[in-house]
Amino acid sequence: PAEELHRRIVAAKAALGSRVSILGHAYQRDEIVEHADFVGDSFQLAQQSQRHPEAEFVVFCGVHFMAETADLLTTPDQPVILPNLAAGCSMADMADIDSVQACWEQLEALYGTEPDADGRVPVIPVTYMNSAAALKGFCGAHGGIVCTSSNAREVLEWAFERGQRVLFFPDQHLGRNTAKAMGVDVARMPVWDPRKPRGGNSAEALADARVVLWRGWCSVHQRFTVEQIAAARAANPDVRVVVHPECPMEVVDAADEAGSTQYIQRVVDAAPAGTAFAIGTEVNMVRRLADTRPDLTIDCLDPVVCPCSTMYRIHPAYLAWVLESLLEGRVVNRVSVDPDVAANARTAVERMLAVHP
Ligand code: 13P
Ligand code: SF4
Repeated sequence: PAEELHRRIVAAKAALGSRVSILGHAYQRDEIVEHADFVGDSFQLAQQSQRHPEAEFVVFCGVHFMAETADLLTTPDQPVILPNLAAGCSMADMADIDSVQACWEQLEALYGTEPDADGRVPVIPVTYMNSAAALKGFCGAHGGIVCTSSNAREVLEWAFERGQRVLFFPDQHLGRNTAKAMGVDVARMPVWDPRKPRGGNSAEALADARVVLWRGWCSVHQRFTVEQIAAARAANPDVRVVVHPECPMEVVDAADEAGSTQYIQRVVDAAPAGTAFAIGTEVNMVRRLADTRPDLTIDCLDPVVCPCSTMYRIHPAYLAWVLESLLEGRVVNRVSVDPDVAANARTAVERMLAVHP
């Protein structure tokens, strides 16, 4: 029963005291968030994972790629624990290292490897945080960088200072929305499709690229539509529509504002009483925003939107289990990045942290 799990988590956490630091992503359910020492978006959680060197263990209530990133940033003797190892991310799974290598080979064959007169290399690879550590390692090894939704623009600026073009994976929408807002012509953002056989992506479409996007998306944010925005405005012409940049371009264009989890939180925090919002992001986060500001009207843009099913896999029973195991001297569900990729992956993450400290 829920009350018993709650009681067991509280007891185990109290017994562990400062030995454990519990981090929670903003999309986690309330029954998890209430136990977290810190709640934030993926960028803030990466920062936080560096800030508790005194904790013996980090319990990461989020998804696998975030726990991997925390493992890169914590000290080597500080295990990072993901309460349920099946909490992955369908978007992160849309790019694997073999496909990225195949894409890279095609781009090298097309654009060469020599810098231009300004010293800019032909392509800089940029991976969204939502990717496996091996892809971050690829970026680190090829002069590239990681970004999150809260710093994608600054990271792309960094990349364009060093490269003539960018290869952006795995989320096509974040790449397109961010580059478009920077003035890049959408016609110069071809989409590379990893499902096509080697050589199956048209060289002609890639020839004039400024940003090569990847055919990947978030199953939660892809569900928001222009029709939902029209319905929200029809119901209340004064509604402020705010969406996450993982939404499709037409949705971002039709919204009043688009921004990361952190941005959406700030917009709501700063809103005067009485403001009505329709928010296009994960429903646990939207519900929590509504609970914390009862003086506002906050609805999810999609009335039947489901939560992120993989974030939801962090059930309180798993949190109770990993904490009680620590009390018994057992570290379960540790996430460790393969040492073969860790150094390069850390380089790519640290480049991001330097661009956006
Ligand atoms: P942020 O935490 O960067 O806003 O990303 C949203 C997301 O989809 C996390 O998986
Ligand atoms: Fe992945 Fe989307 Fe879930 Fe984030 S919200 S973990 S991008 S599926």
